Amino acid sequence: MPTALIILAAGQGTRMNSDLPKVLHPLGGVPLLAHSLAAGAAVSPEKTVVVTGRGAKEVIEAAQAQNPNIEFAHQQEQLGTGHAVAQAANALAGFAGDILVLYGDTPFIRPETITRMQAARAGGHDIVVLGFNAREPGRYGRLVMSGDQLVRIVEAKDASDEERAINLCNSGVIIAGATALMPLLEKLDNNNASGEYYLTDVVALAREHGLSAGAVTCDEAETLGINTRTELARAETLFQQSKRLAALEKGVTLIAPETVFFALDTHVGRDTVIEPNVFFGPGVTVESGATIRAFCHLEGCHISRGATVGPFARLRPGAELAEKVKVGNFVEVKNAQIAEGAKVSHLSYIGDATIGEAANIGAGTITCNYDGVMKHRTTIGARAFIGSNTMLVAPVSVGDEALTASGSVITKNVPDGALAVARARQEIKPGLARKLFEKLKSAKARRDKEVK
Ligand code: UD1
Ligand code: CA
Repeated sequence: MPTALIILAAGQGTRMNSDLPKVLHPLGGVPLLAHSLAAGAAVSPEKTVVVTGRGAKEVIEAAQAQNPNIEFAHQQEQLGTGHAVAQAANALAGFAGDILVLYGDTPFIRPETITRMQAARAGGHDIVVLGFNAREPGRYGRLVMSGDQLVRIVEAKDASDEERAINLCNSGVIIAGATALMPLLEKLDNNNASGEYYLTDVVALAREHGLSAGAVTCDEAETLGINTRTELARAETLFQQSKRLAALEKGVTLIAPETVFFALDTHVGRDTVIEPNVFFGPGVTVESGATIRAFCHLEGCHISRGATVGPFARLRPGAELAEKVKVGNFVEVKNAQIAEGAKVSHLSYIGDATIGEAANIGAGTITCNYDGVMKHRTTIGARAFIGSNTMLVAPVSVGDEALTASGSVITKNVPDGALAVARARQEIKPGLARKLFEKLKSAKARRDKEVK
């Protein structure tokens, strides 16, 4: 069944106490909203509509950065979850498939859970709601069941004592046929304890219209919603625990798992070893059999099979390391392609550069890529040898098998196989060091006497 995804993201998020819209707060290196989008990808949505409210402009920008095809519906006033979903009606006009509703602040819904809901929907229910057995049902909506039929959902505020004793609660996730759901939204009213248009009321309405509703349950942990910074911090801990476990199960060695931090989209291949205290920002892929040594910070980069990075290395967006590349301690790499077997072992900055295979970049080498206004590229050929402390003033190229003398400031292109020396010539003045020291010592003795 073709499915459209609606993500509710209009809530105020008041308790975050933040200028940033709640759904843009990062979890695992990416906005909360990206987690809901990733979960929703389970249905390969034909259309995705994000319902925005406060901070709509920023939310739209961030969502489009994830996927430019996302559409938006604005909810001027937050009149309730039913009202929020109804805002997507225009964007979904004429759509006759299924609709999956997720919250933008509930990041842990598993794709497998959504697939189970789809199966229940295919099994004949017009509406399927995701429930969970709550340890503390508190203010959650309660699912009133009769056999496998979901009779209605009652919000805690509106519930009788008997209903409040139910601990099967509403997660908020719902999947329904668009032709059943959309007309029911128009029939919602706000005659309830909160004075809101409840999405949950569609269940009872559906049954009045002879439609069928059911529920699928999941672990409570999946339904965790973020309302405060404390909850966000707790969610980060849970997210990291599950990413570490997943990495270990995939065959990645983590020497001290609790010190390694992943992003939502981090991919690490089998038999890669990650030493303690490594941080992955978004957009990192590490192929199999690589070694990430202690204290590295990596984002937006690709590390190929058998490469070694760190300790204490920083790979920034656009760093591409081919197989068996070695990037050593105190090296920063940005927007640079380093070909197979090349080595940048110590204390270097490699930015906006291309480095050929098996090239050796000496300690302290810097690509001077920025002239204060523009960025320029450095190209280094295969098997070139860049002497220690070479400044490569870009735009500049060094040819295959060329050599730069250490301490050189390279401002002109170096042809293949050439040696470039660009530093002051050394002079020797016999005896001058001793003479100088004697002069300095007697000057100091004179000054010490004057002070007394
Ligand atoms: C809702 C459910 C409740 C469920 C609970 C799970 C309803 C009426 N109640 O309650 O049964 O147990 O979630 O967490 O649906 N939102 C909008 N626009 C609005 C209102 C809400 O976009 O006008 C968004 C919020 O940003 C949030 C989500 O919808 O992401 C849920 O809203 P919230 O106010 O937290 O609902 P609850 O009262 O917690
Ligand atoms: Ca909530």
